[in-house]
Amino acid sequence: MNIVVLGPGAIGSLWASYLHHAGHSVSLWSRHTESTISIQRDEHAPIQFGNRSKHALEHADLLLVTLKAPQVEDALSELKPLINKDTVVTLMHNGMGTAEVVSELLIDNPLVLATTTHGAYRKSSHHVLHTGLGKTELGGYNSTGKRCEFLAEVFQHALPQVVWNPSILDALWNKLAINCAINPLTAMHRVANGELAQSQYQDTLQSVINEVTLVMQAEGIDTNSEMLSQSVAQVIQATAKNLSSMQQDIVHQRQSEIDFITGYLIEKAQQHKIATPVNRSLYDAIKNIEQGWN
Ligand SMILES: NC(=O)c1ccc[n+]([C@@H]2O[C@H](COP(=O)([O-])OP(=O)(O)OC[C@H]3O[C@@H](n4cnc5c(N)ncnc54)[C@H](OP(=O)(O)O)[C@@H]3O)[C@@H](O)[C@H]2O)c1
Repeated sequence: MNIVVLGPGAIGSLWASYLHHAGHSVSLWSRHTESTISIQRDEHAPIQFGNRSKHALEHADLLLVTLKAPQVEDALSELKPLINKDTVVTLMHNGMGTAEVVSELLIDNPLVLATTTHGAYRKSSHHVLHTGLGKTELGGYNSTGKRCEFLAEVFQHALPQVVWNPSILDALWNKLAINCAINPLTAMHRVANGELAQSQYQDTLQSVINEVTLVMQAEGIDTNSEMLSQSVAQVIQATAKNLSSMQQDIVHQRQSEIDFITGYLIEKAQQHKIATPVNRSLYDAIKNIEQGWN
């Protein structure tokens, strides 16, 4: 396939490398203007990728968008004139809310959503480390996207495990619930995920989960607070030493994905007239930190 990876940061470089090794013709679209970019994955030989080729973008079968959520709308609005209506657009990032925007922006394109638990770390702009094996789920968002099940095989061949999930929104909501619980708290307190197992965080965690549960149920998702509490506790334990992406963004004074995680939850809660005071206070705390940088 002709594939363009838009936003070749940590996770984009990882997939670009694996898709290249699986035999696809992969090109990048970074915000830097060089016409080629060299990327090394782990200790493999570096690969030279074409960058910002209009021809490659116009002829792409797949546009894999690995930008962070707040970057998606602006980047795709700018590139819209170059995106063919048959190109399958796949969004792979944390948080929710971009699919609604992109499906209206690229109204004719098949839209597929993806979530991955692989870990990637950019040692430098030309060197990515695959820090943890994970699982990737893909699923269609619009009617043409829902017919793109073949993509799961393409991704699976490049970097297993990959599944096609016809209920991808449920999977994204479950991930959002975990992110609402772990990300703001670890970012505010600048602690690793495992610290949230301490007793002083339990009341807040439980309140976050109770609020998220009500919103998810109102969205028609079959869940309950016991199930979500268990998932959150499992992730806290399994990723005890990890720093959440929001924690890292706040420490490095980079815009976090709060608007697309807790912000999205609050927006949906308002639509359903559900009160979410604890999530709101975490949202405000992160926004206050970000505004302090200006
Ligand atoms: N890293 C992981 O292990 C991991 C795992 C699972 C999910 N995720 C999620 O995947 C998403 C991406 O994460 P990441 O860690 O890969 O972040 P990242 O390293 O910051 O990658 C984003 C890339 O997009 C580039 N970019 C920003 N605006 C652009 C534009 N207009 N045009 C082209 N490129 C642009 C950035 O360029 P600059 O380099 O110039 O800033 C950066 O290289 C996030 O939602 C994250 O939560 C990450």
